[in-house]
Amino acid sequence: MNIIDKIISSYLNNKTLYIGEKVTMTEHMIQTAMLAEKAKCSSNLICSSLLHDYGHFILENPDMLVNEMKNGKHEEVGFKFLKKYFIKEVLGPIKYHVKAKRYLARKDKYFRLLSKASKVSLKLQGGIMNKSEAKQFEKNEFFEEAVKLRKFDEAAKKFGLKIKGINEYKNLLTSKLI
Ligand SMILES: [Fe+2]
Repeated sequence: MNIIDKIISSYLNNKTLYIGEKVTMTEHMIQTAMLAEKAKCSSNLICSSLLHDYGHFILENPDMLVNEMKNGKHEEVGFKFLKKYFIKEVLGPIKYHVKAKRYLARKDKYFRLLSKASKVSLKLQGGIMNKSEAKQFEKNEFFEEAVKLRKFDEAAKKFGLKIKGINEYKNLLTSKLI
């Protein structure tokens, strides 16, 4: 099976709910991609949005886990796996989407938007960034795209929303391979 078919089948087979939410991981990631499309983002960012939590699929599936990944955080696990196949413009926002949450949480308005589960995981992810961490992050080449992705991510937990099928993204995924 080629890598695109393998990725597509992991979306089709996933039935687990996104931790603490009412949507499955697959629904969540497709909703994230649809929000990026709606906001007329670049095709790279739409692809990043679609794949951003792919690390959760890997963490859930012990067969896919390589030893060194076992203690990884989902964004790093996803990044490490996907970097073998996808261009760096797609990978960057995926790698930094958790940092972007820690950055955005500095603003009260954003923090209040976080779901209960997302507030809990924020603590485990290192908590809200301090000023110097935030300044450093602003210099990251993927800063803006990671922040955009993060905002779609937060809004992509709607129960019962009609969503596209993963196969509709097959051409996009294929176009972003190395
Ligand atoms: Fe997410």
